[in-house]
Amino acid sequence: MSVQPVPGAHPHPLRSEVRGLLQVAMAVFSFTVVIGILNGTDLVDFDRRRILAHVHAGTLGWITMSVFAASLWLFGQEGLGEGQRRAARMLAIYAAVALPAFAFTFAFTYGDARPVMGSFALIAIVGFFAWVLIRARGMTLTVPHLGFLAAVATSVVGGVLGVLLATKIATGRNVLPDGGSDAHPATMVVGFLIPVGMALAEWCFHWERLKPAGRLGMAQIGLPFLGGIVLMVSLLLDASQVAPIAALLELAGVVIFIKRLWPSFRATNWAQPSMARFAAASSIGILFNILLLNYLAGRYSGNFDNVPTGNLLALDHTMFIGVLTNAIFGLLYAATPAHIRERTPLAGNVIFFGTNVGLVGFAAGLLFEVTMLKRIFTPIMGTAILFSLALHTYQIWERSREGAAEPETARARGLA
Ligand code: HEM
Repeated sequence: MSVQPVPGAHPHPLRSEVRGLLQVAMAVFSFTVVIGILNGTDLVDFDRRRILAHVHAGTLGWITMSVFAASLWLFGQEGLGEGQRRAARMLAIYAAVALPAFAFTFAFTYGDARPVMGSFALIAIVGFFAWVLIRARGMTLTVPHLGFLAAVATSVVGGVLGVLLATKIATGRNVLPDGGSDAHPATMVVGFLIPVGMALAEWCFHWERLKPAGRLGMAQIGLPFLGGIVLMVSLLLDASQVAPIAALLELAGVVIFIKRLWPSFRATNWAQPSMARFAAASSIGILFNILLLNYLAGRYSGNFDNVPTGNLLALDHTMFIGVLTNAIFGLLYAATPAHIRERTPLAGNVIFFGTNVGLVGFAAGLLFEVTMLKRIFTPIMGTAILFSLALHTYQIWERSREGAAEPETARARGLA
């Protein structure tokens, strides 16, 4: 029995839940991108509440929702019981409402509505973690499976810190030590996104050829998982001198990742649209992010309060766009049947090079504080992403329409 469900072997039992979550994720992300373009070109000076909605529509509405879709896809292909299928469906519908609702709450208030809606969002994260954990029990686990497990487990902790932070800001009650306002984003951006970024990149590289995880693969996920916990504790206890150790644990995991995936990376054809090309770009994003994290941890002796805002924003956006958005575009590539993709031959290159050239210019503008670079490259990156969201929305819709019109033909085409 292969450990990896072979797409096309038979229709994925959760294909409408997977597509539904990806569709909602794309719709919510368009809000983040539009705010990002207006903010990055300095056309609009947004109030902090709108910026926080921009952050969480991106991190919860796009990334976390897509991670949920990928979890159903990866853990839900074989041997799904009726109860697990129903639970997956309810969780998908619940998350599609709770996550965007919470993300948009940030735009309007610092008050009680945030911890309340945040708790509803946290329930979705805990629900998916439980579902993945139950599914994992009967499976032969590959490195991407382990990456998802470690990442979703950490997002539960990051979410709890987020709800406590929202409570502290809304009520003034001291439910979290001072370091909590850094511990939440750090736990999420490092502890949640690095393992899931590595998992998605490997899955996009090896799609039908995943193998059971060996010791090296387990260390690749275990070290960053541990690093995320050490970083969180060091910030909560205000022990900033420990943070560089956490950064080194992350680096060790990424070195193993590069070693294991180097042959696939080298085999990537950069001129042709493919899942592997998105995986390769995502891998460069992971390496750049970890090197920058270690440089900043060393240079500022682990005290991230002293790091210039531009550097932190560059760190965050190379993770959000460079790592996760590239990897999720790889998934959307797999979710679109070849005969539909072939109708827009140029689109793949416009999306890939527009997003990544835009990102490099945008990140350079933030890192070296060159405003003109930021103003030129933000709309390039943003427009390429919006084009991708519109095209993939049309293609998923087109695929569903075909599936409905000619189920046999669609099934024969082995559409996941
Ligand atoms: C249930 C889930 C979540 C809750 C309850 C939550 C809550 C919060 C709260 C209350 C803040 C502080 C806002 C303020 O300063 O007024 C915040 C900031 C932040 N959160 Fe979350 N969040 C969640 C999920 C996430 C995820 C999944 C990520 C990233 C992967 C994330 C990344 C961030 C970042 C980067 C900031 C700092 C923004 C800034 O200061 O500019 N959050 N979050």
